[in-house]
Amino acid sequence: MAKESAIQYVCSECGHVESKWNGRCPECGAWNSFAEEKVIQKAKAVKDTTVMDDSVHRLSDIPIDKAMRVSSGIDELDRVLGGGVMRPSSVLVGGEPGIGKSTIMIQMLSSLSSSASVLYVSGEESPSQVRMRSNRLKLRSESISVFCDTRLEALSEVIERVKPGYIVIDSLQTLYSASLPSMAGSPN
Ligand SMILES: Nc1ncnc2c1ncn2[C@@H]1O[C@H](COP(=O)(O)OP(=O)(O)OP(=O)(O)O)[C@@H](O)[C@H]1O
Ligand SMILES: [Mg+2]
Ligand SMILES: [Zn+2]
Repeated sequence: MAKESAIQYVCSECGHVESKWNGRCPECGAWNSFAEEKVIQKAKAVKDTTVMDDSVHRLSDIPIDKAMRVSSGIDELDRVLGGGVMRPSSVLVGGEPGIGKSTIMIQMLSSLSSSASVLYVSGEESPSQVRMRSNRLKLRSESISVFCDTRLEALSEVIERVKPGYIVIDSLQTLYSASLPSMAGSPN
């Protein structure tokens, strides 16, 4: 019972877990990186272990679904993605500040929006800033949904409602969950 509300301390830099708070992470050496987190009970977390008869396949019998790769509309981006955007999958796009991440992502969404519903989530810019960029780039913007927020729970609700085929989250670093009392963008 008491364990339900047990607290652990997780390093926001490397994910290292300690039972007590530390000023410095013994794993990666980061200072003041420990954040409090509720322990999720293992028994609850791994309850459903049902395996269907047809869950195990012979590799050679698995059909290749060519439609799983969709062009991003940008040749060079398709190339680094291994031939297009893989569905379903998630890709972490990283790069130095101002390198053009937001720009290339909204260009990609604009292209993908011709075949599916798309959602651009921004935790860094206001809706009108996103609109201005889209205008500057002369993008087709009628079918891009925009949601500017940093709350993970609110985002989940919007995803349930909009059911987008593609989502860009700009950026992961700004996302924050009320159920995890650690810093925004930490390994959680
Ligand atoms: N392919 C490009 N060619 C020339 N300029 C570009 C290109 N892509 C983006 N830019 C310009 O570079 C600037 C920064 O772009 P953007 O905001 O997309 O970068 P970012 O990586 O998202 O930055 P941040 O890390 O601050 O979020 C903008 O002024 C944008 O117009
Ligand atoms: Mg950006
Ligand atoms: Zn660490």
